This record gives sequence, C-alpha cells and structure tokens, in this order.
Amino acid sequence: MPAIGLGTFGSDRVSADEVATAVKDAAATGYRHFDCASVYANEDRIGFSFREILRSGIRREELWITSKLWNDKHAEADVIPSCRQSLADLRLDYLDMYLVHWPFPNFHPPGCDVASRSADAKPYIHENFMRTWRQMEKLVDLGLARHIGTSNMTIPKLELLMRDARIKPAVNELEMHPHMQQPELFRYLLDHRISPVAYSPIGSPGRPDRDRTPADTVDIEDPAIVEIARRLGVHPAVVCVKWACQAGATPIPFSVRRKNYLANLRGVVSAPLSEADMRAIAGIDKNCRLIKGQVFLWKPGQSWEDLWDVDGAIKQ
Ligand SMILES: NC(=O)c1ccc[n+]([C@@H]2O[C@H](COP(=O)([O-])OP(=O)(O)OC[C@H]3O[C@@H](n4cnc5c(N)ncnc54)[C@H](OP(=O)(O)O)[C@@H]3O)[C@@H](O)[C@H]2O)c1
Repeated sequence: MPAIGLGTFGSDRVSADEVATAVKDAAATGYRHFDCASVYANEDRIGFSFREILRSGIRREELWITSKLWNDKHAEADVIPSCRQSLADLRLDYLDMYLVHWPFPNFHPPGCDVASRSADAKPYIHENFMRTWRQMEKLVDLGLARHIGTSNMTIPKLELLMRDARIKPAVNELEMHPHMQQPELFRYLLDHRISPVAYSPIGSPGRPDRDRTPADTVDIEDPAIVEIARRLGVHPAVVCVKWACQAGATPIPFSVRRKNYLANLRGVVSAPLSEADMRAIAGIDKNCRLIKGQVFLWKPGQSWEDLWDVDGAIKQ
C-alpha cells in the first residue's frame, strides 16, 4: 500500500466533479493511492478519472484503490452487490481494499443533522457483523477485492473479529492526527499486523458543521505544530501528514487544491521530522475525537462515547 493516499470525502461542500478532477491530477503528480467510499456520493465521477489515469499509461497494478461498504448495506445479500456497484462506478475490475465503513448497520441520510437517528438503529452485534464479514471474505474469494478491512473499530470489537475471521482485516482506518493519536489502538493494530490508515490526518479543518463541537481543538493551530512548520517552511498541515506517516500509519489527507495535495505528497518523501519533533508531537495528544459518529447511536439519551467502547467493553 503506498505510504500516502488522497482522501475523497468532499465533506458535503466540495462537488463530486472537483474531487474527481483532483484525483486525476493527483495521479499525474505522483499519487497512486485513493481512499473512496460509496457514501461519498462521487464514485461514479471518480470512475471517469480512473479511466483517464489508466489511459495515460499508469498501470492498474501501480494503483491502490480503497472503497467502503456503507452502513445500510450490511445485510448478507447486499455486500457483494454493493461492492460490484462501487466497481462499476469506479470503472474497475477489482479493488485493492474494501472496508466495512462502520461496525454499525445504522443508516442516516447524507448530510443529516447529528440528532438524526435511524428508527431501527442497533448496537454492535457480533453475530450480525460476522454475517457481513463472511460476505466480505467472499469478495476476496471472488477476486473482487484483493484485501478486506475495517474502519472505526475498537479493540474489543477487533478482538472478536480476529478470533472469528477466516480472512483477517488487513487494514483498519482510524481517526488519527496529533490531537487524536489513539496510542493503544495504534499499538494493537501493529501488534496484530493490521495496517493503520490515518483518516482526517490534518484534523479535518474542512469537516461539515454537524461534526463540530465547541470542545474540539485545532491541530494546525497547536503551537508545537506551528513551530515545526515555521522552521521547515511548510504549512502546519504538512507537519501533521509527515507525523502520521513517520509514526507508522498511512495518512489519507483530503484536498482538491494542487498546491496542498502536492505539498502533502512532498511532505512524506522529504527529510523526516527529527526525533525531538516526533517527541514534541507525541506530547500534544488531547484524545480529541472529531468524527464522533453521533448519528450511529441506537438509544435515546446516549452519549457518543458509547460508540467507542471507552471503558473496554462493547456497549449494548
Ligand atoms: N473511514 C472513515 O470513517 C473516514 C472518516 C473521515 C475521513 N475519511 C477519509 O479520510 C480523508 C481525509 O480526512 P478529512 O477529509 O476528514 O480531513 P483531513 O485530511 O484531515 O483535512 C482535510 C482539510 O485539510 C486541508 N488541507 C489539506 N492539505 C493541506 C495543506 N497542505 N495545507 C493546508 N491545508 C490543507 C484541506 O483543505 P483544501 O481542500 O483547501 O486544501 C481540507 O479542508 C477523507 O477525505 C476520507 O477519504 C474516512
């Protein structure tokens, strides 16, 4: 898996065509890894870019393309058709990675308010997740996905999946940026040979308003990050991307601006951060989760922490 990918979630403010244009140009500048998902509602546009990229002489084997199964497609009968739909939209024969986007089958309409709940929302039920996972394993058997993985999982949920999976997850996507380092989960992933893919590696400064709370902190304004950026002559965003990569994760920063996605790519292939800088960033973790997932809660009056098994047990 290439060491950096381009995120493709337009956060409801960047159009599908703008993202698709950025994908095509990012490939021309050197990106080979693209993080897609059906729920980003732009795969059919990005598919045209992949077609152009392949026509430009870049071989399919050089690309690493991820897509994700959305929450309303966890039913056994829906997994394979959903992957086939992403493949058709992306104009590909296979995916390098197919992830279960969230461990919950709880659906919410795109762009809805954080208070929105689906009527039949459920907690994590391992037997149900395994039914979905068996179909994910079939995707590998069928050659539609080279690898399968998870996203937004916790250690207690991964423990169950690692116990019961025939094909173990090769990747787990987790929120990871200097103010949300998740050291325990990160260590767990490395120890179990699951590659950590760092989403929102810059602290998602462009995330939708519904994903903002007054307590959220801003990584790219942190004095430690700003100081390193000033010294290196780069934007603080680039320091965040370099840090994630050097810490051992694969960051997938989003941008549709050539100047910015090129700076992020340069960031991971230029001189590494010093040990002192890595130590300074290790010291600014605030456990500040930005993508809290409130819309996936299943009972009235719950707090978003219930999604993340903070006391080590899966909440029912
Ligand atoms: N698995 C999941 O549940 C999940 C959840 C969230 C995200 N993701 C994936 O992770 C990707 C990245 O996360 P994200 O989009 O939330 O946030 P992010 O990558 O942390 O931040 C993106 C923002 O940073 C800005 N930016 C990027 N590079 C920059 C640079 N060099 N200088 C200055 N600003 C820069 C972008 O603005 P400009 O566009 O103006 O450059 C954009 O607003 C998503 O696109 C998606 O593919 C997955």
